[in-house]
Amino acid sequence: MPPLCPRTATLPRRDVRHSDFLQHEWHAGVQSRDICLETCPRRTGVSDDLKTLYGGVTSRRVTTRDLQLAKEHGERWAMLTSYDMLTAQLFDEIGIPVLLVGDSAGNNVLGYENTVPVTVDDLLPLVRAVARSTTRPLVVADLPFGSYQESPAQALRNGVRFLQVGAQAVKLEGGRRGRLQVELLVESGVPVMGHLGLTPQSVNTLGGYRVQGRGEAGDELIADALALQEAGAFSLVLEVVPADLAERVTKELTIPTIGIGAGAGTDAQVLVWTDMAGLTPGPGPKFLKRYADLRGVLGAAAKEYAEDVRTGRYPADEHGYT
Ligand code: KIV
Repeated sequence: MPPLCPRTATLPRRDVRHSDFLQHEWHAGVQSRDICLETCPRRTGVSDDLKTLYGGVTSRRVTTRDLQLAKEHGERWAMLTSYDMLTAQLFDEIGIPVLLVGDSAGNNVLGYENTVPVTVDDLLPLVRAVARSTTRPLVVADLPFGSYQESPAQALRNGVRFLQVGAQAVKLEGGRRGRLQVELLVESGVPVMGHLGLTPQSVNTLGGYRVQGRGEAGDELIADALALQEAGAFSLVLEVVPADLAERVTKELTIPTIGIGAGAGTDAQVLVWTDMAGLTPGPGPKFLKRYADLRGVLGAAAKEYAEDVRTGRYPADEHGYT
């Protein structure tokens, strides 16, 4: 048994970062495989399987197993939604390991007020486009409202349709009530991402978009999370729940958790890309950080173009053919 680093040995495994390991003076002279195995979450040099999602998996798609290993190594990752070829290509290029073709397409692409009217037929072409335009990210398709609640057989029928157009997994909302659905999907070869907390397909029963899991409801959510894990889900989205609850769930589960409005204690984060990039209007929910002002940039460009056409500045001579 090799000696343990006095610092990393005292930290919970998930709190030890690979960069800390490399920079830590104690390790500088003794980067042996054994010591690394004992102390470093990435276990450098042990196997190709253990490379990071961002840096290692470049020549094949990210798998559910890669995400499981990332949790074990304490590596955090980001998921984004994507609904089309251009964003999917771009997100693949810059190294987003998981793309979700969410039913948020309803109020981001399809012109619905929320996700309730979205159907499998609405999402199939979007899933096909995202899958066809990428080579590396794991593509997850949302099972929309009404496409899985009826029975496990209905969930399987629709899950299979998504995998047949290129998704590698599906996501569905709800906890213990969907347990049989998750079991049948997973047993049949359809990996499942769960989704608890603010589940937008249930907006009409939740009474609006409100924080979920406060007080005693937190214990119910933990029971749902454990049931999904037991049924075979490979990961779990936690949407708009108290940060301490999300952290508790993340520690109790062995599968990765993906937070949205759930604080910093989850294994991964997800945002709707149009929110992240500032294409959607308004300030958005409290948890949202806008990383760009795409709405401003696109609006200004379209306005300048229209003005150029109106005043005859576009097209100019250099835009014509002889
Ligand atoms: O549909 C969606 O975009 C989602 C994410 C917000 C998790 O479910």
